[in-house]
Amino acid sequence: MTQDELKQAVARAAIEYVVDGEIIGVGTGSTANFFIDELGKIKDRIKGAVASSEATAERLRAHGIKVFDLNEVETMPVYIDGADEITPQGAMIKGGGAALTREKIVASVAQKFVCIADGSKLVDVLGKFPLPVEVIPMAHGVVARKLSSLGCEAKLRLKDGKPLVTDNGCYIIDAVGMQIADPAAIEDAINNIVGVVTNGLFARKGATVCLLGTADGVKKLE
Ligand code: 5RP
Repeated sequence: MTQDELKQAVARAAIEYVVDGEIIGVGTGSTANFFIDELGKIKDRIKGAVASSEATAERLRAHGIKVFDLNEVETMPVYIDGADEITPQGAMIKGGGAALTREKIVASVAQKFVCIADGSKLVDVLGKFPLPVEVIPMAHGVVARKLSSLGCEAKLRLKDGKPLVTDNGCYIIDAVGMQIADPAAIEDAINNIVGVVTNGLFARKGATVCLLGTADGVKKLE
């Protein structure tokens, strides 16, 4: 099976977690996109969705799914999203698609985080994938220096030769080569750097369930 077929398989399996008549939180990225396409097929069963990025909101609307502003929603039963890396304990690196802050905010409101990923994302120790950190633009230099002192190479993410600008008007620094033995401690330490909006470690609130696409079928970790 190709990586896309594995992503499609987990996207289909995640429909089981959609609660009828409720609002669902929806993530960002290629796996989340496959999920949105599946959600479109059962859109009449749900009230609508909260999107974790402008791109996701656009795709949801293209399927005729109502998109709610998070400020209108107090809680939701489930948030469904991909990951760049995930451990068997459910700690994740996210933000390869630069949507980490909105993803973390929407996930914080959901009762359950269902991670959908192809099997290549499962790791014992996080950190091979560069850790995305969203920063206030005027602080990218100072934050990069502080990240480097934690033992990584801090690289400003570029698009077309210029700093990539997130949906929140901020920049992304990718922390390359960070040793993440204790994901919750590193999540807290980086979030405490002045100028950081948030970082892509989802350890304090990780995945409740992970649906992993493998050649032997969809495996559930919980
Ligand atoms: C976007 C994310 C994505 O969930 C992550 O990058 C995985 O993406 P994909 O499903 O395309 O592999 O965190 O900010």
